[in-house]
Amino acid sequence: MSPLFYQILHVLSAMLLVGFVISACADPRPERKKSIMIITGVLSLLVLVGGFGLAMKIHGISNPLKFTGWMVAKVVIWLLLSGMAGLAFRRSTIAGVLTLVTIALAGGAVYLVYARPVIFGI
Ligand code: HEM
Repeated sequence: MSPLFYQILHVLSAMLLVGFVISACADPRPERKKSIMIITGVLSLLVLVGGFGLAMKIHGISNPLKFTGWMVAKVVIWLLLSGMAGLAFRRSTIAGVLTLVTIALAGGAVYLVYARPVIFGI
């Protein structure tokens, strides 16, 4: 697959993931839970596949143990983002805070990819 394929897969699924998480925060009715959890689960997997594909195609790193600091930080953000929809349904009283946290996580992921800071010396 070309880098372009992974770029589109990664960015499109990341945008949709953030959108569906915020949608869960905005309307956490129990009847929406199953469908949102399935959709965000699939999108989360696609973000991961796209991210690892980009690490391989653009940076030549196919082993996650050799990821640079900003890549590791993105994996942490991805983990947190992937748990947000489930949290939105369980803790609907703090939906506003969860929305802000989701926006901050997405902003952090975008910052990391463009600033590529050195974290813990890697
Ligand atoms: C497993 C987690 C992730 C990994 C390993 C990962 C890795 C990467 C890599 C290697 C790139 C290419 C960097 C480059 O062009 O030099 C990239 C681009 C990008 N990622 Fe991620 N990422 C992850 C999660 C996320 C998340 C959760 C978001 C947003 C919510 C995100 C948003 C972006 C954006 C906007 C780009 C820029 C694409 C471009 O300019 O071509 N990533 N990511």
